[in-house]
Amino acid sequence: MTQPEHSPPPDVAYPQKIRTFVKRAGRTSSGQARAIESLGNTFIHPYTAAPVSWPAVWGTDWRDQPVVLEIGFGMGDATAHIAQVLPDTVFLGCEVHEPGVGALLKLIGERGLRNLRIVQHDAVEVLEHMIPPASLDVIHIFFPDPWHKTRHHKRRLIQAPLVRLLCSRLKPGGYVHCATDWAPYAEQILEVLRAEPMLRNRSTHPDGYADRPAYRPVTKFERRGLRLGHGVWDLVFDRC
Ligand SMILES: C[S@@+](CC[C@H](N)C(=O)[O-])C[C@H]1O[C@@H](n2cnc3c(N)ncnc32)[C@H](O)[C@@H]1O
Repeated sequence: MTQPEHSPPPDVAYPQKIRTFVKRAGRTSSGQARAIESLGNTFIHPYTAAPVSWPAVWGTDWRDQPVVLEIGFGMGDATAHIAQVLPDTVFLGCEVHEPGVGALLKLIGERGLRNLRIVQHDAVEVLEHMIPPASLDVIHIFFPDPWHKTRHHKRRLIQAPLVRLLCSRLKPGGYVHCATDWAPYAEQILEVLRAEPMLRNRSTHPDGYADRPAYRPVTKFERRGLRLGHGVWDLVFDRC
């Protein structure tokens, strides 16, 4: 019997894509569900496997503003804060976790924000297929999952091929801003960003880490870590 075209031959192990996340069980609260119901149509942009045009994403709110992509916004606290303090910038947030999408939509509703759109999809695929080349001014990656165990390191988001992809989507003169509270991951991020020829470290500190830019708020989680004596490392690299 012949195999359907999309099936691997029975004796060949099919390479599974390594994802940077696992779907968590977390429950969507009724407030988050209400926000998705009432605001989802306006602020969630469906994933498309073809490059988008920004006017199609922001509609009549689009006035050629700088575009920031945020990967993995979690519950969206930092995202909403930054969108509020930078009203003349537009933000596209990618997150796979539904309660997080609901939480950010709730903040959008409560604060009357207009300059944000959400794509609820794997950001790696969004970058690969949906974001046009050289179309982003900034990329934010705050506290990406550290994947502590050695056997899970392959799931870490910030690795050389992804950094190359980020660079291809950034405009020359744009920049990428990462933050982490896990020292070994900070070292890895610094190493792969430094190794990318299209990037230049903005930091002038001898250790290569940047001061926290004023727009990035200290989140509740981060404040707790700092109280416990944990470090936080910001990394800001310009796209040449
Ligand atoms: C440790 S949390 C940090 C959340 C937030 N940035 C913060 O600072 O609180 C990492 C988030 O990234 C999301 N994430 C991981 N890989 C992703 C991917 N490929 N696409 C979209 N979201 C992703 C996870 O669902 C999770 O919410």
